[in-house]
Amino acid sequence: MGKADIESDVFRRVMGHFPTGVTVVAARDVDGEPYGLTVNSFASVSLDPPLVLVCIDRRANSHDRLVETGTFTVSVLAANQAHIAARFASTPSRERFKDLPWGISAAGDPVVEDAAAWLECSLRESHEAGDHTILVGRVESVGQRDAEALVFHRGRYRTFAP
Ligand SMILES: Cc1cc2nc3c(=O)[nH]c(=O)nc-3n(C[C@H](O)[C@H](O)[C@H](O)COP(=O)(O)O)c2cc1C
Repeated sequence: MGKADIESDVFRRVMGHFPTGVTVVAARDVDGEPYGLTVNSFASVSLDPPLVLVCIDRRANSHDRLVETGTFTVSVLAANQAHIAARFASTPSRERFKDLPWGISAAGDPVVEDAAAWLECSLRESHEAGDHTILVGRVESVGQRDAEALVFHRGRYRTFAP
């Protein structure tokens, strides 16, 4: 390893100082089964046209499916949905939507019920970037409700509530 290389765990800890929201990125597979994963690398890219990005680990089971499916949703989790973030980051993929209330976007993709906000996207571009792929989605429809967001900071789920 060269002098300039940063250890992954150090990089992760440093990036952990940057607080983010927490989302579930989801779609349906060829059999119509919903799948998704917890994602905090979500950002707004462009207003006109409305574009967002998410960065997906190429080793994630969802990776190839998301690239191939062409549509996905982003559910921005509410403060009381840390258990959903944990579930979509760890439990086996096919159990994540089990017994979880979810709605369906116009394109037929799953939206986590009671999320603070959601966006339905069609895949515009994908860019390989190191061990991740940057998926750029065009926002086709959105929804929101009056709810506090879930926050991820220094490896822990937090809320703005006192
Ligand atoms: C708070 C949090 C944020 C995460 N953000 C991302 C992310 O931005 N991109 C990603 O590929 N994985 C991210 N992960 C990891 C995935 O959610 C996790 O590896 C998941 O099990 C992948 O599921 P899959 O293999 O079924 O696709 C995050 C995990 C947590 C807990």
